[in-house]
Amino acid sequence: MPDLAYVNGEFMPIEKAMVPIEDRGYQFGDGVYEFIASYEGRLFMLEEHLDRLERSMRGLAFDPISRSEIKAAIFELAKCSGYPRAGIYIQISRGTAPRNHAISPGILPQVIMTIRPVKEIPAELREKGASAITVQDTRWDRCDIKTIQLLANSLAKQKALDSGCDDAIFVSAQGVVREGTSSNLFIVSDGRLTTHPLTNNILPGITRAAILRICEKANLDVEESFFDTETLYRADEVFLTGTVTEVLPVVRIDGKSIGDGIVGPTTRRIYDLLRKQALAGESA
Ligand code: PDD
Repeated sequence: MPDLAYVNGEFMPIEKAMVPIEDRGYQFGDGVYEFIASYEGRLFMLEEHLDRLERSMRGLAFDPISRSEIKAAIFELAKCSGYPRAGIYIQISRGTAPRNHAISPGILPQVIMTIRPVKEIPAELREKGASAITVQDTRWDRCDIKTIQLLANSLAKQKALDSGCDDAIFVSAQGVVREGTSSNLFIVSDGRLTTHPLTNNILPGITRAAILRICEKANLDVEESFFDTETLYRADEVFLTGTVTEVLPVVRIDGKSIGDGIVGPTTRRIYDLLRKQALAGESA
């Protein structure tokens, strides 16, 4: 089964796909993206991802692109690849023009997509729990827009790997715990879940939203409020959430054990509930 790409209306093997060097995505990071995954051939929370893509485009003042065209391309990629557990990247740049900070009038957006099997989190990491470091958040102040400018995220992830950990957690200069390098973050303390509120400083994760609704249905106490690193270290459980991450327990942060240093019951329960919902093909 082939890994495929879509470039402005054409489908091709990934290794044949090219973008022009004067694409503003390449020159200025002037683009937005989405990542959508399927379970048993069904795309999980597709409409919610497309809503966010449209919000991201509006956030950068891109002209709108027909949703039905984007959906048709996604379905075609999913059909042709045949992957039951596919990961689809959709990336839209403002377009191609001779290099100039100012935006050329009439520039046309460049739409690319790729499809591959999801690179799953190893089962043993889920079982024993991940380790993380905290890093100061040096990203710009519109992290609610899913732009392709991911350098701070990428460098923070590498710093975590270089120090023998699995991921990094962004913390503001004032000590507010924000999110992971490609995931949102929840803590569980005395039976209550807390996650950073939706502000300009975090991505409004689709998995985060699904989990808030799951908690509501399961009568789990959850709040969206700010908390600091001391509260993070003292939590009974910590987990990261995202389209690939799903619900990933974190049992060690900055060398300190979280709770008993093993995966906690609430994290397990939420992971099971999320999987159940995704496998049933339901949006939350
Ligand atoms: N990243 N926060 C950040 C900074 C992210 O990059 C992501 C997702 C999330 C979780 O969002 P969602 O639940 O909608 O996947 C939170 C994707 C998966 C990526 O960069 O590949």
